[in-house]
Amino acid sequence: MSEATAPPAPANIVEFRQVTKRFGTMTVIRDVTFCVPDLPQKGEFIAILGPSGCGKSTVLRLIAGLRPHHPPTEGTVLIAGGNVGPPGSDRSMVFQDYTSFDNRTVEDNVAFGLECRGVSARERRERAREWIAKVGLDVDRDARKYPGELSGGMRQRVAIARTLILSPRIILMDEPFGALDPTTRLHMQELLVQLWKEAQATVFFVTHSIEEAVYLGDRVYVFSSAPGTILREMAVPPPDRPPKDMQRDPAFLEYVYEIRDLMDTLMSSTRAGDD
Ligand SMILES: Nc1ncnc2c1ncn2[C@@H]1O[C@H](COP(=O)(O)OP(=O)(O)OP(=O)(O)O)[C@@H](O)[C@H]1O
Ligand SMILES: [Mg+2]
Repeated sequence: MSEATAPPAPANIVEFRQVTKRFGTMTVIRDVTFCVPDLPQKGEFIAILGPSGCGKSTVLRLIAGLRPHHPPTEGTVLIAGGNVGPPGSDRSMVFQDYTSFDNRTVEDNVAFGLECRGVSARERRERAREWIAKVGLDVDRDARKYPGELSGGMRQRVAIARTLILSPRIILMDEPFGALDPTTRLHMQELLVQLWKEAQATVFFVTHSIEEAVYLGDRVYVFSSAPGTILREMAVPPPDRPPKDMQRDPAFLEYVYEIRDLMDTLMSSTRAGDD
């Protein structure tokens, strides 16, 4: 193939160029720079770790285009090579707290985005029910329940269905499993990996669990304490087994220990700096 006909290099799906965000005199993130390539038929899974208050949610909200974090004070955020548009279904966010509508049933919550898009009632119902099953809920038993009647794990399944039904290119997840018990959490990780492989989207996943980050991520970004900046970017093995098996593997644990040591050093140097 001649050079002239070679396919162009894939654009970056998300790019931060020296992004700084200040609220008043407080600098929340400083000079954050990274590139996530648009991998066709795959999408990357980026896990974000960092101490509380270092600006992880700020980074997600800048990608989503949500104010007041958007726009940055300095630097540039690019989505697929262009400026960040208004929040839209090309970028969907799943929050830590349960964000379903309390007055809508599971089915109507899952179908909400389709309703906004003007999809017919019949098609909405069909697709919502398909997604309810995909996230491991029981259509007959759960579709007509209200969020108040569900456990935390079930609510996060609804949140995931509500997001993925819209086939977003970028999925932003802010500590979605933080409130779940350890066993449910592992099940949710496994489910997410399976759905992500199908969705072929780019995922940004914020967590405080190093094991979760190493398990889910293709890459892990470790942020410094505030003002947050990327301290370390690490490629980690992709999840090819259920988390319970993979997390026993000595090679897996090596990554976990390395990141834990890095974060310990970071926290103790921050404390020393505070004195
Ligand atoms: N709307 C806002 N106005 C002013 N300051 C804000 C605003 N949103 C966030 N901040 C500040 O920015 C800093 C970073 O907040 P952010 O929520 O991004 O942290 P985080 O890394 O997600 O923390 P956590 O792990 O606790 O969720 C904090 O000091 C916070 O108080
Ligand atoms: Mg946060």
